[in-house]
Amino acid sequence: MSKIGASGADLLPLTSREFEWIRQLAYEKFGLSLRDGKETLVSARLGKKIRELNFSSFQEYQRHVVEDRSGDALTALIDALTTNHTSFFREPAHFDFLRKTILPRLAMQERISIWSAACSSGEEPYSIAFCLLEELGERVLAKTRILATDICTKVLAKAQQGVYPSSRFDGIPAQRSRRFLLQGSGRFAGCYRVKPAVRESVEFSRVNLMESIAHLGPFPLIFCRNVMIYFDRETQEDLVNRMAVCLEPGGYLFIGHSESLNGIKHPLRYVCPAVYQKPRADSPEVNTTEVKHDRS
Ligand SMILES: C[S@@+](CC[C@H](N)C(=O)[O-])C[C@H]1O[C@@H](n2cnc3c(N)ncnc32)[C@H](O)[C@@H]1O
Repeated sequence: MSKIGASGADLLPLTSREFEWIRQLAYEKFGLSLRDGKETLVSARLGKKIRELNFSSFQEYQRHVVEDRSGDALTALIDALTTNHTSFFREPAHFDFLRKTILPRLAMQERISIWSAACSSGEEPYSIAFCLLEELGERVLAKTRILATDICTKVLAKAQQGVYPSSRFDGIPAQRSRRFLLQGSGRFAGCYRVKPAVRESVEFSRVNLMESIAHLGPFPLIFCRNVMIYFDRETQEDLVNRMAVCLEPGGYLFIGHSESLNGIKHPLRYVCPAVYQKPRADSPEVNTTEVKHDRS
């Protein structure tokens, strides 16, 4: 049985039964596939959580999660387990494709609705909003809805605030970022905040991708990047097929450049690395062939 050290500074490694319990729970509720070798990471992250909550053993914490009817304990557990790494304009090839291929078409539409699934702390949906502004001008915001979802409540709260250290914008020319950002002062010195009009074009919401998503669409574009890497093939296949239902005919799905739909059955057409398209009703062929590509 794992007990927290008297100093509160360390957690004994999880027993294999305890790790198995976490693994099952993370898989059933959130689709996360915690492979062998993740024990140390899970121990470290949950150890911190258990210390914060002042539990003296893993069993006490386990009871707390099982008996909590509100679901908050489970949410906090997943918050501790997920990896939220992201950045502005991550995988820039997607943003070039968005500007050159997708936005000219969307510009004609009365409403623009884009989904950033697994948006983490907001850099991805805000990068989408910045592209729209740059390509289509300020007026585009009035007809735009960017739905940005994640399972982790901590990152969603951060995303909603839209405050980031200035270092997060390194590499983005100042004259470009000035258009979207306000410079922080006082306790926000050294930070930038996304301007209110841009923040208002993004709607943040908690969505578990393992639950029903069909009601969220249809979208001409879904970003679902760098989350499927945590799921096994079966879960990826199920998710991609449910995402396809959320796409308009002709709509695009972006996945992470280190992810691939190779070897899974889905109705989408491969377009270029990490970009797939839902065929239009009148399109005769469905091409799912893809080439191996490197992370960009
Ligand atoms: C590495 S971040 C990717 C962020 C962004 N899409 C990008 O590519 O930069 C992965 C995100 O997936 C979220 N996530 C993990 N499992 C999820 C699930 N079942 N439903 C929704 N989001 C999930 C995590 O909370 C995390 O914020």
